[in-house]
This record gives sequence, C-alpha cells and structure tokens, in this order.
Amino acid sequence: MKKLLFQFDTDSQASVFDQVVGYDGGADHVVPYARVTPEQIGALVEGAIFTRAPKDKKNTALFLGGSDLAAGEALMSTIQGRFFGQFRVSLMLDSNGANTTAAACVAWLSHGRSLRGRRAVVLAGTGPVGQRVAAMLALEGAEVCITGRQLERTHAATQAMAARFGVEVAALAAPDAQTRAQAVSRAQIVVSAGAAGVVLLSQAQWCDLPQLELLADANASPPAGIEGIEMADRGVLRHGKTCYGPLGFGALKLALHRACISRLFEQNDLLLDAREILAIAKQMIP
Ligand SMILES: NC(=O)c1ccc[n+]([C@@H]2O[C@H](COP(=O)([O-])OP(=O)(O)OC[C@H]3O[C@@H](n4cnc5c(N)ncnc54)[C@H](OP(=O)(O)O)[C@@H]3O)[C@@H](O)[C@H]2O)c1
Repeated sequence: MKKLLFQFDTDSQASVFDQVVGYDGGADHVVPYARVTPEQIGALVEGAIFTRAPKDKKNTALFLGGSDLAAGEALMSTIQGRFFGQFRVSLMLDSNGANTTAAACVAWLSHGRSLRGRRAVVLAGTGPVGQRVAAMLALEGAEVCITGRQLERTHAATQAMAARFGVEVAALAAPDAQTRAQAVSRAQIVVSAGAAGVVLLSQAQWCDLPQLELLADANASPPAGIEGIEMADRGVLRHGKTCYGPLGFGALKLALHRACISRLFEQNDLLLDAREILAIAKQMIP
C-alpha cells in the first residue's frame, strides 16, 4: 500500500522544502495543497480518514506547514476536532520549520546538561522559530524571556505559548542594539531567532558577559544574527561560551524532519508538535 503524505500549507504556494523532505522521509507520494484554511479543511480530512481500513490508515498522514505558525496551529486544532474513534491519521505541525528547527537547537543546547533554572533570552522570539525555541526552553525548565521590537506583539507571542503549552515566558521590548544588549546582560543562554540576515547582537556585546554560557544563532543567511558565531559551530568554545551556529544544528533539523515523517507512517494516531518533536530530537543526538 502506498504511503501518502498530504501536505497542507497555509501559504499561497506549498513549500518545496517540505515536499522534498516528505519524500526523503519515506512517503511514496506527497500531495501539496496551498492556501489551506480551517473553513475548507473538512473535506480534505474526510478524504484522508474515511478511505482506508483501520489497519491501513497508518499509510496516510498529514503535514501542516506554511509561514504562519498561528494559522498552522488553528489548522491542527480543526483537524483534530474532525478525528473520532479509529477515524484518524497521524499529523505533524512544522510551520516554517519551527518545530524541527527549534527542537534541533534546544536538543543540542540541553545535550549533556540541564537547562533547569537557567536564564534564557530568545532574541526576536516572536517568529515561528523563536516562539518554539522559547516554549521548548521553558518546557526544559529554563526561565525564558523573548524580545521583539514591539511590546504588544511580543506579549501576544508569550500569551500564545502560555495557552498552547502552559509555560510562562516573559516579554521584553528590545527595538535596538542597546536594548538587546541590556536584555542579554544577565542571561546564561542566548538564542537569536531573528529574520534572515538581521544582525541582533555584536560580538562586543556578548564576548565579555561573565554569566553567559550558551549561545545559538538560527539565522543561516549571512550576516549572522549573532556576530562572532560561525555557521557550522556545534559546541565550539568562543570567548569561553559554548556556541551553536545554524548549520551546526541544521544537520539535526533535517534528519529530525525526515525521522518525524517516517514515524507518521508507523501508526495512525501520532500527533507531532513541539513536545513530541523535541523528545525525538533528543533521542537522535548520539
Ligand atoms: N538553521 C535552520 O535549520 C533554520 C531553519 C528554519 C529557519 N531558520 C532561520 O531561523 C530564523 C527565524 O525564523 P522565523 O521564520 O521564525 O523568522 P521570521 O518570522 O522571519 O522573523 C523572526 C522575527 O525577527 C524579527 N525581525 C524581523 N525583521 C527584523 C529587523 N529588521 N530587525 C530586528 N528584528 C527583526 C521579527 O520580530 P519583531 O517584529 O517582533 O521584532 C520577527 O518576528 C530565520 O533567520 C530563519 O532563516 C533556520
């Protein structure tokens, strides 16, 4: 029986990246849909859950993507609401790669050490990746704060995390270099999750911070989000801080995305969101 992955994307064009990884993760056929909304998802879900016998339903799976995390989360809730009894298929949420990217980053940060009680700042933590990094750090027991250029938007992101994961994350407006430097001044962990190519912290702003232990940068488009971190850094010591660059944890991100797709086809009732994807990422680090 063919393994079918239905790729529901909330953007106007379905992601090619997600389609390629769908095949690499083991799907025989990836069927992309664009501009998917909760209002018109019903018929698509029915097509997925009513077509195969219970023992065969594990060969059908759903992947939710697109650049808007809130839209992806809304789709996920609506789809789950349509499932009942055995009439369900496995489902993964990874809008903008947020879950797999954040999980790879946090899995490396927590590898061989506990993050419990550590003070963490996620710079530009309002985007999909930053929100998931912050939520996962909080789930690991860190005291987390996210920054954004506008307090209202930053607050909205922390409220969304509280509602979804029951975590308390603080919000701080840090619109310029000076306020961002202030935000990280007492942090033990700093993760930069800003938009591609945006520099959020200069080397001079972090290299002498005595309490800073761990630094990670998600931005893979030069210039780096945190100056002084190299793209391929994976646990490299710089100025006494352990550094992770976007390619340093990007290898795990890709392998993790594939592994998650593969697991979707092992059962018909797997739900993969932040917690579950982080757990898989941790298992994958040797
Ligand atoms: N390493 C990997 O494997 C991997 C995988 C996927 C994504 N990424 C990278 O991860 C990063 C985060 O991804 P994302 O999709 O969450 O990013 P995003 O939504 O494009 O941007 C994240 C945040 O950056 C802030 N921002 C935008 N322009 C800015 C500017 N000019 N100055 C300061 N802040 C600005 C915004 O926050 P405010 O408006 O609230 O300030 C925004 O919410 C990106 O660099 C992306 O390329 C890496």
